[in-house]
Amino acid sequence: MTDPISKVKLGFTLNGAAVEIAPEAGERLSQSLRERLGRRDVKIGCDAGDCGACSVLIEGENHCACLVAAHQVQGLRVETLAGLVEREPITQGLMERFQDHGAAQCGICTPGMMVSATALLREEPAPSDTQIEDALGGVLCRCTGYRKIIDAVAGRAPRLDGRAEVGGAIRRLDGLAKVRGEERFGDDVAPQGTLELVVIRSPHARAGFEFGDLEAWAAATPGVVTVLTAADIPGENCFGVIPPFADQPVFAEGEARFRGEAVAAVVLTPEARRDFAQGDFPVTWQERPAVMGVAEAREEGAPQLHEGRAGNLMITGFVARGDAEAALGRAEVVVEGRFESGFVEHAYIEPEAGFAQMAGDKVEIHACTQAPVMDLEALEIILGMDRSRIRIVPTGVGGGFGSKLDISVQPFLALAALKTGQPVRIAYSRTESMQSTTKRHPSQIHLRIGADGEGRLCGFAFDGDFNTGAYASWGPTVANRVPVHASGPYQLGDYRAEARGIHTHCPPSGAFRGFGVPQAAIAQESLFDELAGKLGLDPLEFRIQNALRDGVPTVCGQVFGQGVGIGACLEALRPAWAELRAEAEAFNLDQAGPLRRGVGVAAGWYGCGNTSLPNPSTIRAGLRPDGQVVLHQGAMDIGQGANTVISQVFASALGLAADRLVLIGADTDVTPDAGKTSASRQTFVSGNAAKLCGAALRGEILRAMNAGEGAVLRFEAGAVLAEENGRQQRLDLAALPMDDLGYVMRAEETYDPPTKPLDENGQGEPYAQFGYAAHLAMVEVDTRLGTVRARKFVAAHDVGRAINPMLVEGQIEGGIAQGLGMALMEEYLPGRTENLHDYLIPTIGDIPPVQSLIIEVPDAHGPYGAKGLGEHVLIPTAPAILNAIAHATGVRMRSVPVTPSKLAAALKGDKNG
Ligand code: FES
Ligand code: FES
Repeated sequence: MTDPISKVKLGFTLNGAAVEIAPEAGERLSQSLRERLGRRDVKIGCDAGDCGACSVLIEGENHCACLVAAHQVQGLRVETLAGLVEREPITQGLMERFQDHGAAQCGICTPGMMVSATALLREEPAPSDTQIEDALGGVLCRCTGYRKIIDAVAGRAPRLDGRAEVGGAIRRLDGLAKVRGEERFGDDVAPQGTLELVVIRSPHARAGFEFGDLEAWAAATPGVVTVLTAADIPGENCFGVIPPFADQPVFAEGEARFRGEAVAAVVLTPEARRDFAQGDFPVTWQERPAVMGVAEAREEGAPQLHEGRAGNLMITGFVARGDAEAALGRAEVVVEGRFESGFVEHAYIEPEAGFAQMAGDKVEIHACTQAPVMDLEALEIILGMDRSRIRIVPTGVGGGFGSKLDISVQPFLALAALKTGQPVRIAYSRTESMQSTTKRHPSQIHLRIGADGEGRLCGFAFDGDFNTGAYASWGPTVANRVPVHASGPYQLGDYRAEARGIHTHCPPSGAFRGFGVPQAAIAQESLFDELAGKLGLDPLEFRIQNALRDGVPTVCGQVFGQGVGIGACLEALRPAWAELRAEAEAFNLDQAGPLRRGVGVAAGWYGCGNTSLPNPSTIRAGLRPDGQVVLHQGAMDIGQGANTVISQVFASALGLAADRLVLIGADTDVTPDAGKTSASRQTFVSGNAAKLCGAALRGEILRAMNAGEGAVLRFEAGAVLAEENGRQQRLDLAALPMDDLGYVMRAEETYDPPTKPLDENGQGEPYAQFGYAAHLAMVEVDTRLGTVRARKFVAAHDVGRAINPMLVEGQIEGGIAQGLGMALMEEYLPGRTENLHDYLIPTIGDIPPVQSLIIEVPDAHGPYGAKGLGEHVLIPTAPAILNAIAHATGVRMRSVPVTPSKLAAALKGDKNG
């Protein structure tokens, strides 16, 4: 079946050296570079020219290597990031600047960005921002919000201060590998020639299926090693992140419940993988009627997805305080609205990938994940094996945002390695990733809010249906979190909120930055503007008047005596609010054309950590005889900066600069459980564990030296010095006995945030701390076309204490970009937007300047006062944009995304959007 031109030798220059390969006919250059030449600094995000992760220079020109046939580079000069950082001074300069600005978060887009920037800077050494945006416009980044990348390429001064301790703006400790293209993500770790896996997936939202003779097919098909189905699962064919709701099979049995659900997998050689087509696999499908929306799913007689969940109702979350209806009855003004949002795809640039191999009788899974210990626990059940025979070794994670909390490739890989005894790899295609992994819950919300004549909130009644798809995933968390947060960070004595998770034949909805809170905030913050308007009050002042304060109970009856920072966030926006509103009004007065500017404000809060559940993190550290301090840091860094932030906290507690630590990352064999990277918990929870651990190790050293609390420690080769009151002591480490891990001293500490369960009315203490945020958005609307362009954001975030201000800014800018995508362009439609061409995420040209205002209202529970931040960063963005659109045009949009067609229709007369 080989084409006549296949195996024709091809010669070209790669990073300055002559190379010769014999690719298959039509083989992509990206594939040749990665798999034949080991150039895994060339990343694959889509294989379709949409993401730019595979950017390389061919004769100095920037190209997507996935769109170039390998044979086209015969005799040409090809450069990748790995070669450029060795030989090109421009790229070497970029390498420093990307680190100085924190322009690489997860790092999966970084090779594409740096290669494209090199091509630009060779042509134009001092480019304008517009030139940078044009040159980098083909490379997508889902983490950074692009602004720090623009600053790095433009060569602006960074905000580094070099203090490798709490509060210091230092480079990311793990940044060098990212800017050199050496970070190893899920698809970068398998040895060349490893067996591959193809997952067979349902083409229908709901379908019965029958296999042909799989054994005979496998035996007769060259290169096929084995086939896996539900029958190959030694344990339970079931997983789920919240055990009472575990309902998802590894391989569907009897019926597939969503388009893209796995029913089988084929293990085959790389050569056979190239020629394999899904249609070759012996399976027949019987498409069945499916329910895709919550209304249909709730109808009498609708197909039921799960036994025991009548009416397809998975769970109801509920919070009530006071008497919402009575309060609404006596309110001076009541506003009401129905709001809806669609599926939002995480769209990290790294599709799920990994490999597995046997090490004796132990199966090792190397894959991208946000939650290694949860993966281990899931595999214990699926494989029916003791956890001592399973090892999870996380790879670099090229973005997660919640979806990589759920297992994806892990069970397929483990089953394949166990069955064949050989290493096996898989990397999901972009379409496969989008079809089969979790999404943000679509929502349908009905909300009524009242206020008295003085503008004080008076009654709040929230009712929401959340489409949780075919399986539970994190749906129960969403249903429980939304009623706790739907009030926003405001004073509300009379409150009622109910949120339901409803099953449909859609992909499972799961965790995505905010767990349902961003959807609720759109409704609440939009109606707040309407309330303020009806009362003739300024929208910002209305919020400040009603903002939660220390000592005032939340809607759950929880009273924080300190640390409530929403008032400070809103007040910090006052100058920009006045300035931007005046600017927008002046712009509009000047305009005869269709452009109108508007400014909107919105706020948000988010409880850090699990809701009323145990949530511990453990951090370990050891002192080696050579004087090196080793930090076992198992909190997954998915780009947000946990490796750096937790090191800074630990180092401050110990009394050592963070950049002198030796870091050991997550690995279930060598690193204690720091819990999952979700719910904005790592800085807070793992940070506290790190602080305790640093203090414990310091205490042990001081005791060994009989030194006092105030002693200053210095770590040298083979010794620790303690200075106190002008006296110096020396502890010779080589003389001390080593423990089983090779340490002369070690500490391990655990922190679990104090919470209390919620009662049947949702009253209790769900979180030990909240973080707070308020955003301003200025937009420009083309009232003829319905297009919206964001012009500026000002974002005030109360982080308690900024452990690393540069990383705080990076989180804020990245979150705003995701919030903008949710507001204006992103909607996943099964079967229609299953790639990055049809599913649009913000590009570098879509994100305007972001001014971050870091507010520090310390929290008594936070390490050095710090609060979590990861989810908070997008909660106010979408409602601020909607409020800005209303300010610009007078039209209130209640359905996101606000696409040009929806807005144009609303501007023509349908004022409800
Ligand atoms: Fe080539 Fe996405 S992998 S553009
Ligand atoms: Fe750009 Fe993660 S840093 S995609």
